Order: sequence, then C-alpha cells, then structure tokens
Amino acid sequence: MSKRYAVILAAGQGTRMKSKLYKVLHPVCNKPMVQHVVDQIFKLHIEEIVTVIGHGAEMVQSQLGSQSQYALQDKQLGTAHAVMQAKEMLDGKEGTTIVVCGDTPLIKAETMEALFKHHDSQAAKATILTASIQNPTGYGRVVRNDNGLVEKIVEHKDATQSEREINEINTGTYCFDNRTLFEALKNVSNDNVQGEYYLPDVIEILKKQGQIVTAYQTEEFEETLGVNDRVALAEAERIMRNRINEFHMRNGVTIIDPANTYIGADVEIGQDTVLLPGTVVKGKTVIGSECLIGPQTEIEDCRIGDGTVIRQSAAYKSAIGSQVNIGPFAHIRPESEIHDEVKIGNFVEIKKAVFGKASKASHLSYIGDAEIGSDVNIGCGSITVNYDGKNKYLTKIEDGVFIGCNSNLVAPVTIGKGAYVAAGSTITNNVPGEALSIARARQVNKENYVQNLNLKK
Ligand code: UD1
Ligand code: CA
Repeated sequence: MSKRYAVILAAGQGTRMKSKLYKVLHPVCNKPMVQHVVDQIFKLHIEEIVTVIGHGAEMVQSQLGSQSQYALQDKQLGTAHAVMQAKEMLDGKEGTTIVVCGDTPLIKAETMEALFKHHDSQAAKATILTASIQNPTGYGRVVRNDNGLVEKIVEHKDATQSEREINEINTGTYCFDNRTLFEALKNVSNDNVQGEYYLPDVIEILKKQGQIVTAYQTEEFEETLGVNDRVALAEAERIMRNRINEFHMRNGVTIIDPANTYIGADVEIGQDTVLLPGTVVKGKTVIGSECLIGPQTEIEDCRIGDGTVIRQSAAYKSAIGSQVNIGPFAHIRPESEIHDEVKIGNFVEIKKAVFGKASKASHLSYIGDAEIGSDVNIGCGSITVNYDGKNKYLTKIEDGVFIGCNSNLVAPVTIGKGAYVAAGSTITNNVPGEALSIARARQVNKENYVQNLNLKK
C-alpha cells in the first residue's frame, strides 16, 4: 500500500449559510461538520493530514487541535488554490492524497477506503468520488465521453443546459497521485463564472495529458451531501440522526420514536436502555444498560450507571450512578456527583453537589455546593443557602442525617452524622452528630384570641 495523505478543505466562509459561525464549524448532531470529516479520515491510516484553514482559522484549529497540520489560505480563491496551500507540507512526496471538503459531514471511512482501493486498482492518477442523485442542482457535474470515461467536471454555474441534466455529481472527494496533483495545480486557471481556481479542473488537465483518470460511483449518495446552506444542514442532521439512532438500536437500545430522539455522535448507550420521545443526549455522555430516559429529557456530558431512571429532566456535566431515580422536572447542574440508589425528585435543583449512596431529595429543593453523605433524607422544600451575594460556601451533611421540611442550611455549615434538623429550621451553626437541632421560633397558641379580636360579625 502506498503512503496516504489527506487534505481537508475548510477555509471558506460559507456565505450561503448566512451565519457568524464559519461553515465547517456548524454542528451536525452536536459535532462540527469538519470534526465529522476528520474523525472518519482518522480511521484510514493516513500519514499526514493537512487542513486548509482561512475564515475562522483559529476556531477551526482549536476544534481539531493536534489531529491535523494546518495550511493557511489567506484569500479564498477557490478549491484548487486551497489545496495548493498544502504544497509546503506535501509537495514531492510519493503516495496518494485524498482531498475532502470540510462541508461533507456524512462521508464515511468505508466509502473513502473503497475510493482508495478503486484508485489503486486502476493505477489512476486521479479518481473522483461521484454519486448519482435526483436533484443535482448546485453540484459539479461529471461529464463522460461516448465510451463512458470521465472527461471533466463542470460546475453548475458554468454548465450548459444539457450538462445540467447530468445526474452524476462530483462529491468533492478525490484521490490523487500526490506528485501529479501538485504539478497539475500549477496549470489551473480562474477563467470561469465565479473567477475561482477550481480543483475539479485538475481532472480535465490530467485527462488532456493522457493520464488515467477514473471515477468511483458510490451507491451511498446520502453520504455525499455537501452542506452549503441551512436547508442542507437540516437534511444532514436528519440523515446523521437516523444513522446514529439505527446504530444504537442495532446495539440493543430501544428508541420509542427515533424521529423524535436526538443522540450526539459520540454518545455511548448500554443494552436494554429505553429512550422515550423528546430525549436529547449530547456531548461525551455515556449511559449504562437498562436505564429509562425521557420523555423530554436533555443530558449533556454525563456518565450514567445502570438501571437509572431520568424523567422529564435536564442533567449536565455530572456523574450519576446506578439505580438512581431522577425527576420528573429535576435539574442536575454541572459538577454534581450522584451515587447509586439516590433519589432526586420533582422540582429539585442540584449544583456542584455530591450525593452519597441512597440519599434522597424528593421534592422542591435547591442543593448547591454541598457534600451529602449516604442515607441522608432532605425534606421537601429544604435548601442550601450557599451564596452571600459575593462568595459561595459549602454545606456538609454527614451520613444518615434527616433534614426536616422547609429548612434553610446557611453555609458554611456542617450537619454531623445521624443528626436531625427540625422542619422549618434556619441552621446557621454546625450541628453535632446525633443531635436534634431546632432553629425556629417556638409556637405560641393564644386561646380564644380570634373571638376576642371581635372581628367576626
Ligand atoms: C464543490 C465542488 C463541486 C462539488 C461540491 C461537492 C469546486 C469548484 N466545486 O462545490 O464540484 O460538486 O463541492 O459538495 O470545487 N474552500 C476553501 N477555500 C476556497 C474555497 C472553498 O477551503 O477558496 C472549502 C470550503 O470551506 C468547503 C469546500 O472547500 O469546505 C468546498 O467549497 P464550496 O464553496 O462549498 O464548493 P461547492 O460550491 O459546494
Ligand atoms: Ca460545498
């Protein structure tokens, strides 16, 4: 196998997106388009990956980090000009270079592998990945001669009426003999409707030199979608969503309504977990097996154990154990650590709090900046008073504590092991272990008081 190189084109502004965000950074299923491309490229045993950046260069670079080298394209003069910027890194090297557009997020490693194989088997200098699609508007068309051999690619805007009737499109992915590519790029002109240096022109140039140029037509036309505007973005999202959902279903996850379930590209889910409609799972979330999630639940960057139930709730950047019961209508904010068998009930907000095994906050609570031991019961309406307007303080509740309903725990404060706090207390001092703390006004009943007021007629 000859050495493989990759050039990813990601310098365009993406004018048709009408967006402040650079096109290739627009997310599809919660992952930037260019990241999808790089993740697939990574599977292909590539010697060197060069991403051509321009618009939003720094942001693209910080997204991809050390996964790629970078070539800067100062002015976006076209796709051929873009590839030329990788010359410094790749010129003169022996091997095959795959060029992929950063705006084709659906392309799969398998398809690119097949393209490489086809290219090698034909001993070609250039091989275009093509697809036959129903509505080719906007794409470059593959013009073949009477023998069915590729002649050239003509851009939609430059195409004649009869060329526009061709359904076979250039997907924007190609394999080139690396040296031949950089030689041919010197001859590309910008004599066309858009005044740009088109990479596809290399095909006609090589053809005229009598080099072997082939096309590999993939059946997987859905993979080749180029995202130029928000309509195509939504289409890519739909296709990617189906693909991800299907992957999880084949892995043993039940998805009640796949059209209404949104799983990020990097999410992992265990067997026999059930996702109910309206579930959105994002980021690097890992969900264990036999969980029940949803309906209408959003989870981002969480690790969740097995057999946990999360209904109509939101959870972010937190660790959640096994056999935990959350919701309905709970909010787990970042940096929380919820251990096994915990119950977080309706209208409970948790922030940066540790909940030890089997502890409960079943109703109407705010627990922020807290360390809660195991087997603690937090009564309805109780809250941690963690903020004095300037600083945040810690509340510590040790194992086995019982906090009566509607208590305020004014931090910093520690409730010792096994202590009881009477309902309605406002606790400002530490409570020793095993103590009962009552911090509220004593009840006074004034007999016959109402009658004496003489207010009733
Ligand atoms: C391109 C192809 C077209 C093909 C289609 C497939 C050309 C001239 N046309 O058209 O044949 O059918 O892709 O989706 O190549 N870019 C740069 N620098 C530039 C210009 C573009 O880095 O100077 C990058 C863009 O960021 C983008 C990619 O190249 O990721 C493709 O550019 P775009 O303008 O979207 O090309 P299309 O018009 O879609
Ligand atoms: Ca495009």
